[in-house]
Amino acid sequence: MSSPPTILVFDSGLGGLTVLREIVHARPDANYVYVADDAFFPYGHHSEEQIIARVVPLVGELVARHAPALVVIACNTASTLVMSHLRSAYSVPFVGTVPAIKPACASSKTKRVSVLGTKGTVNREYTRRLIDDFAQGCEVTLVGSAELASLAESALSGNDVCDEDITAELAPCFVGSGENRTDTVVLACTHYPLLLDRLTRLAPWPVDWIDPAAAIARRVSELLGSPGRESDEARAKIIFTSRRPHTLSQALMPFFGGRVPA
Ligand code: DGL
Repeated sequence: MSSPPTILVFDSGLGGLTVLREIVHARPDANYVYVADDAFFPYGHHSEEQIIARVVPLVGELVARHAPALVVIACNTASTLVMSHLRSAYSVPFVGTVPAIKPACASSKTKRVSVLGTKGTVNREYTRRLIDDFAQGCEVTLVGSAELASLAESALSGNDVCDEDITAELAPCFVGSGENRTDTVVLACTHYPLLLDRLTRLAPWPVDWIDPAAAIARRVSELLGSPGRESDEARAKIIFTSRRPHTLSQALMPFFGGRVPA
């Protein structure tokens, strides 16, 4: 029997686990290597040049070491910059994560959509182009958050994160009033779905939160081809580039479909 394919999922930190969770659900037959580049976290605070110079060679080393069948860049801040560089440098298939502006604008009834991402993501030329091409008559508000990814990371690591700090990052997404108020918010950073319950509770009015993780998982599954048999051999591994000792294995099990990541 052939051995299970390895899928490598890459992010600046723990946010990409929200994408991994959907991929594991779609493809329980695969091996997973999750890489958190926490030595360079948060990507949202680095320049475009710094991110390209960091991510392209690092992903090259990871591809050489783990020989994945496919790599997912589960980070909007990186994907909106590095995908063409990665595809021209390495022959393995890549799937990126970019702001889900098209489906959000297609489904908004009030035609008021906000895109909540890192400051890097909302300032990218790539994101502006998505709006030019896919706004479909919607007014799109870009909200660059300096702290929300770090707050999500901190909450997942078991620390107390107060409501006021989350509300301060979230408030600019809510614009207009009555029939003309925001009804759709794009979660354009993979860390934010980690806080979805709290975002929903702290929002001044109900909105649709658009998370592209399930669509990314479908794309990954399509590229991999028909699933093999779910195997006892399938493994999960998590790597932190800082090499810090971590005690999160048990807490992260649900993201790995119940496997304990080594
Ligand atoms: N998870 C990352 C994203 O999707 C970014 C967090 C960061 O490193 O600033 O954009």
